[in-house]
Amino acid sequence: MKILAIETSCDDTCAAVLENDRLLSSVISSQTDLHAKWGGVVPDIAKRAHSERIEPVIKEALKNANLSVDKSTSPLNKGRSLDNLIKNIDVIAVTLGPGLSIALGVGVNYAKELAKKYNKKIIGINHVEGHILANLIKNKEGNPERKVEFPSLALTVSGGHTKLILIKDIGDYTVIGETLDDAAGEALDKAAKMMGLGYPGGPIIERLAQKGDKKYLVLPRPLSGQKNFDYSFSGLKTSFYYQIKDWPKEKIGENLANLSASFQDAVFDSLLIKFKKAIEFYNPKTLLASGGVLANLELRKRLRKLAKENNIPLLMPVKKQFNTDNAAMIGIVAYYKALRKEFVKEKESLDRDPRLNF
Ligand code: KG4
Ligand code: ZN
Repeated sequence: MKILAIETSCDDTCAAVLENDRLLSSVISSQTDLHAKWGGVVPDIAKRAHSERIEPVIKEALKNANLSVDKSTSPLNKGRSLDNLIKNIDVIAVTLGPGLSIALGVGVNYAKELAKKYNKKIIGINHVEGHILANLIKNKEGNPERKVEFPSLALTVSGGHTKLILIKDIGDYTVIGETLDDAAGEALDKAAKMMGLGYPGGPIIERLAQKGDKKYLVLPRPLSGQKNFDYSFSGLKTSFYYQIKDWPKEKIGENLANLSASFQDAVFDSLLIKFKKAIEFYNPKTLLASGGVLANLELRKRLRKLAKENNIPLLMPVKKQFNTDNAAMIGIVAYYKALRKEFVKEKESLDRDPRLNF
């Protein structure tokens, strides 16, 4: 089964082609530069960029997948037309949500038109499930072999979500904890903005934090004393703001490493405290972690240590590009849904759902 997957839930226009659970190609057209000067994603700008880029991104993914195309239909470039490239695709998968409504709309409408025009099956995908199953993407050769035993516990941490999810089987998810306000990545992005750093802030804070003193500022670990598995990052952000708001620019400039280390440590402590509690409560057989913030090496190190202490295997995406938004993760979910025959019955009725949950 060959799958074309499309993802436009935020600020990356992405397409990928998979053969079952094996990735043949993945294209990500990042809009970071367009949004950076505004310090965050601007929905209208994202919508326009997705609309301009979606067709070339899909074509590139199809070309890179090297599916056999009919070259007999000369003139030369005809073999590379969308009509020809899409012939070998069996299923089109697209992110329905959660995400930015008008950004999601671009992907969903495009996928719907393609599915109708070329008479393909279509599957709607939950973006968060994509982040979780990004751990199961294999390369062309079918590697790596990934074993998940149930129940498993997944931590998904990105700019839009911070969730702890109990997995009884692929497709059977229960959210056992989530952020009550900001996502962890969002908190990092906002702290970076307060320090006058660029966007997205997570990677910049990671780099600065390597040389900083994490004990420099005393910051709270919100909700850490509570029995539930929920997160909160807005109090942490506010505490950070009040501690530095009257500082002269020079003082902030001199202490960027210390401030970054302190803030990052508070975010990661919060993540780990609840993950540890959930592990003790649910006794999972496998741990999974994913999402944009998992690009952070310090967080990966700390998660690995926690898994080792509890003697539970931990899966994290093998490639950096599978942590942040991509379409390969949408395609892998589609593969498992296709095995369960979860195709959309009425293509016309397919719609985005910006607040889609499990
Ligand atoms: O998964 P993602 O690409 O998009 C969403 O679905 O939100 O995640 C983006 C988030 C941003 O908040 C960004 O600052 C954060 O992931 N991020 C990082 C790193 N790389 C990206 N946070 C910490 N360290 C990083 N290296
Ligand atoms: Zn995401």
